[in-house]
Amino acid sequence: MKRPLAYGRTADITIHLADANATVRLGEEIARLCRGGDVILLAGELGGGKTTMVRGLARGLGVPEEVPVTSPTFGIVHEYPGRLPLFHFDLYRISGEDELYETGFDDYAAAGGVMAVEWPERLGGMRPEAYLLVTLVYTRDFTAREAQLTARGGDWQSRLDRIAPP
Ligand SMILES: Nc1ncnc2c1ncn2[C@@H]1O[C@H](COP(=O)(O)OP(=O)(O)OP(=O)(O)O)[C@@H](O)[C@H]1O
Ligand SMILES: [Mg+2]
Repeated sequence: MKRPLAYGRTADITIHLADANATVRLGEEIARLCRGGDVILLAGELGGGKTTMVRGLARGLGVPEEVPVTSPTFGIVHEYPGRLPLFHFDLYRISGEDELYETGFDDYAAAGGVMAVEWPERLGGMRPEAYLLVTLVYTRDFTAREAQLTARGGDWQSRLDRIAPP
């Protein structure tokens, strides 16, 4: 059954993630499908596993193991060197669209890397037209997670068909 999600859409695929490793592996799998200019929006509750999934995206894009992937504490964006550059935004502390604009969000979007955005609800009018939305939700017993994947625009729908669950 398709469930209603943020943005009023329904999930195209729901994948069970038994532990943090599974979250990383799904991130690696998604990275395999990525091209320059792609945007991955990571939604879901506090502690849902968004940063963990960015770690998987980074590994899948070939960012070396020794490069730590953590949420930016100062500033709101981290850049990691991979097969494509990965730009990691965490908008939890963003004050508004003006601050996002000042970080050069538009310039990053045009730079040909992959954008991964935590707390994408805060993008407001800067939300791009095409993206893959990953919503991470806790399972009922709070021990594991479910990833709900939603394709929006571009050719994400056909790319989603090629995802192999971890
Ligand atoms: N599938 C999973 N099952 C159980 N635990 C998981 C799973 N995926 C990630 N975790 C764990 O959940 C915790 C929170 O992960 P993470 O920091 O990635 O969440 P987040 O969504 O980025 O949090 P925040 O909202 O603070 O940004 C970590 O301890 C991580 O190991
Ligand atoms: Mg996080």
